[in-house]
Amino acid sequence: MRLIIMGPPGAGKGTQAVFIAEHFKIPAISTGDIFRANVTRGTELGVEAQKYMNAGEYVPDEITNLMVRNRIDEPDAERGFLLDGYPRTLAQVEELDGMIAFTGHRLDGVVVLTADRDEIVGRLLQRAQTEGRADDTEDVIRRRQEVFAEQTAPLVEVYRGRGLLVEVDGMGAVEEVTRRIFAALDALPES
Ligand code: AP5
Repeated sequence: MRLIIMGPPGAGKGTQAVFIAEHFKIPAISTGDIFRANVTRGTELGVEAQKYMNAGEYVPDEITNLMVRNRIDEPDAERGFLLDGYPRTLAQVEELDGMIAFTGHRLDGVVVLTADRDEIVGRLLQRAQTEGRADDTEDVIRRRQEVFAEQTAPLVEVYRGRGLLVEVDGMGAVEEVTRRIFAALDALPES
């Protein structure tokens, strides 16, 4: 099973990715988490990525693509994976197409979580108080939403055109959203 979970910052991608990955017994691969782990370790990749992340901008495609390519080459991703937060640009979509085609597999579905802007900003401001993520400040949250709207929202139509889109309302309780995701994935036509 090869899936993507997409949605604006704070929509609940990371939260829901855990349940989907567990269900299909595949790794949840979050580019944001990999970048943050590198920032913590102070690697060259982390130092480079941090400049963009702290400003709410996307890390350049070349860096991100290479990182994902290396990650999905790992043995635990042989049977499939759930990508959380990748692809986010049209160039990343093309790159991912190439990576998957190279292995002779196909993408099975793209879950898009939607949520009201006020709700997601509220969630991120609340998280700022408990986790203190460097990009959860009001200004950077606003910029992350703008960047999503400019660069990632257009990807929804790309995947809709391919018949892979599963749009799910991300508002409400976490368990309710999870239930909606599984119901929507069940409704995807098998191919
Ligand atoms: P990333 O870590 O992916 O951040 P993001 O997209 O901004 O998403 P978040 O993690 O903030 O939100 P989420 O949708 O995962 O929601 P979550 O479940 O955490 O990326 C960070 C940065 O890395 C990017 O800005 C960029 O710089 C860089 N980057 C990453 N990927 C890249 C790429 N492909 N290309 C280039 N650059 C890239 O939930 C948020 C909060 O809400 C949590 O506190 C959670 O507990 C809570 N919550 C979740 N669901 C609910 C619910 N139903 N009700 C109430 N609260 C909820």
